[in-house]
Amino acid sequence: MFTTILSSLLLISSINPLTSPSCFPPIGKPISKLPETISIGSQESIETLYSTISKQARFPVNRLRITKGSDGSLLKNDAGITVSSTGVRNQSVIYVKDLGPQIGWRTVFIIEYLGPLLIHPLVLYVLRPYLYGGSKPLPPPSDLQALTCALLTLHFIKRELETIFVHRFSVSTMPFTYVFRNSAHYWLLGGVNLAYWVFSPSSPTATSNPNPALLYPGLALFVVGQLSNLSVHITLRNLRKPGSTERVIPTGFGFDWVTCPNYLFEVMAWVGVYLVSGLNWSVLLFLAVGAGTMMKWASQKEQRYRREFGDKYKRKRFVMFPGLW
Ligand SMILES: NC(=O)c1ccc[n+]([C@@H]2O[C@H](COP(=O)([O-])OP(=O)(O)OC[C@H]3O[C@@H](n4cnc5c(N)ncnc54)[C@H](OP(=O)(O)O)[C@@H]3O)[C@@H](O)[C@H]2O)c1
Repeated sequence: MFTTILSSLLLISSINPLTSPSCFPPIGKPISKLPETISIGSQESIETLYSTISKQARFPVNRLRITKGSDGSLLKNDAGITVSSTGVRNQSVIYVKDLGPQIGWRTVFIIEYLGPLLIHPLVLYVLRPYLYGGSKPLPPPSDLQALTCALLTLHFIKRELETIFVHRFSVSTMPFTYVFRNSAHYWLLGGVNLAYWVFSPSSPTATSNPNPALLYPGLALFVVGQLSNLSVHITLRNLRKPGSTERVIPTGFGFDWVTCPNYLFEVMAWVGVYLVSGLNWSVLLFLAVGAGTMMKWASQKEQRYRREFGDKYKRKRFVMFPGLW
């Protein structure tokens, strides 16, 4: 049973992208040697679809972007999704585009975390006089500001080390331009904005008498959150052999409670930073945006486990927050 797919219709969208509701400009550039049609078994995976087109077009697979002609939705390069399950049928049309130069997934993570890792100590110990200096003499950084900076720096050092030594990613690259989009969250929200408000002489962290009811629970949440998050990342690492992209149902610490315990513990650690920072709004903003993103991803992961593993997967009652959601 074979599905024939007309695959070279990039011209249709680029000639007349705005006049038909089903005609939208797919992201990317045309590929010159794209085959007119390809044949593939309907039970083959989308990963096979990508590799088949890559071979026939003699084009790097990680630069390809394939979308459905019917509704423009992305056909994600995934070994666990069959061609037929995406709704692609015999004679279906798909768009194949060139995403342009790629950058390593790991490199993007390293760049993302490097921003806040450098920005926090830089603002607190170097740029402070230039940012807040005025007519009044600037008081030295408080111990609480130094502590908050240490926690933030430790957090991002941990993320860098995990990226380099712990995570075994299944996707190797992404379009180079994404590095700017992805870094904005960390460099701007988790770096510049957070540092400016937390290290200001008018911030709650500038006090010489921190509130012990916030400080100690905050430190405890930070330490427990970070260690637990590391433990979950090690569990995830051990699901795969080196070089493998296989997906396995995770079990162990945290996974009995929620689908994504690493996200739960990440949020816990950031609630800790929020308390230590004397409830600084800029920490709360970064926490809220990060938690919102992780909630979206966690929900998608729960759906994916159900889809990929069926009855073998024990459905989770809670996706990220035990007893709540
Ligand atoms: N503060 C924030 O705003 C924020 C936001 C997001 C994330 N984070 C932090 O960044 C960390 C990493 O995030 P992430 O979204 O990349 O986490 P993730 O999707 O859980 O992935 C972590 C690693 O585990 C692998 N993995 C996940 N599930 C697997 C499975 N079933 N079988 C085999 N391998 C599996 C992933 O491989 P794949 O390459 O296949 O996915 C990846 O290498 C989070 O845990 C969190 O600490 C922070």
